[in-house]
Amino acid sequence: MRILSGIQPSGKLHLGNYFGMMQPALELQQRGEAFLFIANYHALTTVAGAAELRAATQDVALDFLACGLDPERTAFYRQSDVPEVQELMWLLSVVTPMGLLERCHSYKDKLAKGVPANHGLFAYPVLMAADILAMQANVVPVGRDQKQHVEVTRDIAIKFNNQYGPVFTLPEPLIRAEVAVVPGLDGQKMSKSYGNTIEIFGPAQDVRAKIMRIVTDSKTVAEPKDPETCNVFALYRLFATAAERAAMAARYRAGGLGYGQVKQALAEKVAAHFDPLRRRRAELECTPERVAEALRRGGERARAEARQTLHRARQAVGLE
Ligand code: ADP
Ligand code: TRP
Repeated sequence: MRILSGIQPSGKLHLGNYFGMMQPALELQQRGEAFLFIANYHALTTVAGAAELRAATQDVALDFLACGLDPERTAFYRQSDVPEVQELMWLLSVVTPMGLLERCHSYKDKLAKGVPANHGLFAYPVLMAADILAMQANVVPVGRDQKQHVEVTRDIAIKFNNQYGPVFTLPEPLIRAEVAVVPGLDGQKMSKSYGNTIEIFGPAQDVRAKIMRIVTDSKTVAEPKDPETCNVFALYRLFATAAERAAMAARYRAGGLGYGQVKQALAEKVAAHFDPLRRRRAELECTPERVAEALRRGGERARAEARQTLHRARQAVGLE
């Protein structure tokens, strides 16, 4: 099994990113050959400013390594260290129907939010297809919002393979049902663009303060409550064991449990989970040369793979 996923360096890592993409991808490191990368070409569609992009790239590298990415096992790299994906993108572009890209929700959402349309934004899924197909990945762990992009990748690969012969492995998205959409403070999808995130490496007191601000209904302490519709419970369950989850759900239904108490329990879980990772991150921050070396070696591995794929694709279309 070959696993691949990427994340844009365009904001601080939040619980949605962590549970939706990072944790599933990191768990799969043990089960196959993993390629995890920092999508800095993609980030150019939103991040303006060289210093900002460099800082965000370093931040995500620290995040991944602190959260358990093992650079000995997994190829960890910056997208821009594999320029072959750019050429591959062109070879894929010529078999990509306009309609396929016009239907992408993420593109339509960005336009609806007032992001100016440019070719990069439109072609974003083709670049993502090049990332995935270059490494011949068959499993792509992502949150639900990226599912369509992986399906588009599959469609593009099928078109190319039909037209030019079998060059690309067809990928499948891997979406964990229980974390497909992690809710934010207001109950909408947690997303940096909605300003409703809980950052996993934010200062401990900020994390706590945000948890206390999670929106709930206005039931009194005495009233029985429904855990299934509660934003606090939706986050609590991500950290709890099955037994803890069942016990908390029973306390909701019995009444006598205040939302403040659940928030308190959630804050303790979050701290217990992330404090050790935060310490590891702080150590790594003091040894930037180790981070740079991990990325350099990962880039070499990924590039060797991409070169092979590109060679086959160039032969298939008649460039070689
Ligand atoms: P954001 O919405 O904050 O801009 P990104 O689009 O950069 O986040 O997402 C990076 C990865 O994290 C993607 O794989 C995405 O599916 C996943 N992800 C982001 N937010 C969530 C969420 N709330 N629930 C589950 N997965 C998420
Ligand atoms: N578009 C993804 C996101 O915003 C990041 C990404 C780029 C990606 N290329 C990828 C994810 C390839 C998985 C596979 O989250």
